[in-house]
Amino acid sequence: MEKIILKDIPDLHKISVYEANGGYKALKKALKKMTPSEVIEEVKKSNLRGRGGACFPTGLKWSFMPKDNSKPKFLCCNGDESEPGSFKDREIFEKNPHQFIEGALIACYSMGIKTAYIYIRGEYYKWIKIMEKKLEEAYKKGYIGKNILGTKFSTDIYIHKGAGAYICGEESALMNSIEGKRGYPRVKPPYPPQYGLWGYPTTINNIETLANVPEIIKRGGEWFASIGEPKHPGTLLFGISGHINKPGVYELETGIPLMTIINDYCGGITENKELKMVIPGGTSMPPLTKEECLTIKMDDASLKAIGSSIGTAGIIVMNEDTDIVKVLIRITQFYYHESCGQCTPCREGCGWLLRILKRIDEGLGRMEDLELLINISDNITGKTICAFGEAVALPVKWTVIKFRKDFEKKIKSEKVFLPPKNIVHGLRH
Ligand SMILES: Cc1cc2nc3c(=O)[nH]c(=O)nc-3n(C[C@H](O)[C@H](O)[C@H](O)COP(=O)(O)O)c2cc1C
Repeated sequence: MEKIILKDIPDLHKISVYEANGGYKALKKALKKMTPSEVIEEVKKSNLRGRGGACFPTGLKWSFMPKDNSKPKFLCCNGDESEPGSFKDREIFEKNPHQFIEGALIACYSMGIKTAYIYIRGEYYKWIKIMEKKLEEAYKKGYIGKNILGTKFSTDIYIHKGAGAYICGEESALMNSIEGKRGYPRVKPPYPPQYGLWGYPTTINNIETLANVPEIIKRGGEWFASIGEPKHPGTLLFGISGHINKPGVYELETGIPLMTIINDYCGGITENKELKMVIPGGTSMPPLTKEECLTIKMDDASLKAIGSSIGTAGIIVMNEDTDIVKVLIRITQFYYHESCGQCTPCREGCGWLLRILKRIDEGLGRMEDLELLINISDNITGKTICAFGEAVALPVKWTVIKFRKDFEKKIKSEKVFLPPKNIVHGLRH
């Protein structure tokens, strides 16, 4: 299979190697032979869909930006990548950074944007340093800055370091963070193309989304649309971790069966154990049972059809020995810690879920707790400003429903005495 982003070319991260392999030719083509509207049309034709989790059609998103160029407009390149199980954008920064930069520049040209930000989580110091160097190289070569490639088009790209909050990957929290404010998500509407950074029209795209754009411009939208699953075409950078022999990032076509990834690419499950549970797209996605894994294909529609989602394609594989209750506690603990606290159902609900899960794990649970977990999850879902609510609630709800026996086993097990502090209080940091 041909790779679109993580191509098997040694030293592709170097600008000279990237140029020698056709790099920045798509930018030249866009700037010198295409109008901004033609670029957007080509991306629409490709049916490229966002790789940041929501699968929104990229060309359509770009077409929402106002055509008027009299006021500032912005592009935010989302490299926050804080979802547990997701580590593919950093692979692009390391292996093919210029293809992402070129994609961002083409996006700017198509929407009349003169300023772009690359938002990178502050802890990702190594990748911030990499990208600072790569931007410098591209500036020196005249791909970024004033009158790019001798045309009238000028754009600057800046890196903005996050302060280490998962919520700042949510697009409106990300914009607040760039503005120097606390990373609170904004109420929508208005959407970013109407009211974005500092109130100006803004588009937010994931790093992998933008990295696909140069090949689409070079080879045409129809070519891209013919790869993989037609409704969700192209390749995905699957970041695979857990109980598998060869974890890592694999670029594979959409629609590939999950078991092909696990067995053929990742060398199967460690110690030849049985599969128990798979999280298909980062921890905010509802899990899959072994039976579901046997037939599922990895694309947006297939996963939605069984109540989950492709998310960021961060696959976490767990074997038969896994303590599912403990896994869910770990995941919920993360969301409890990361909730920005703006919406009551999320702020309080995360803590309630965590406390109930902990008491089940400690042998102090009641059967009614399982219904209570589902009830709390249902009362978070759809009742918060941003989709963080769903990120915590849906995995809890569906893990309890799909792996109910694991929870019941702990509840039925012999009760142990624990001091009261473990039951209710003292969990907020
Ligand atoms: C809580 C939360 C965290 C998110 N984190 C990220 C992230 O780290 N990176 C990302 O690209 N999108 C993230 N998203 C999705 C963004 O809000 C947005 O949809 C995405 O960046 C748009 O880019 P795309 O259309 O190219 O996918 C997150 C969403 C939510 C609700």
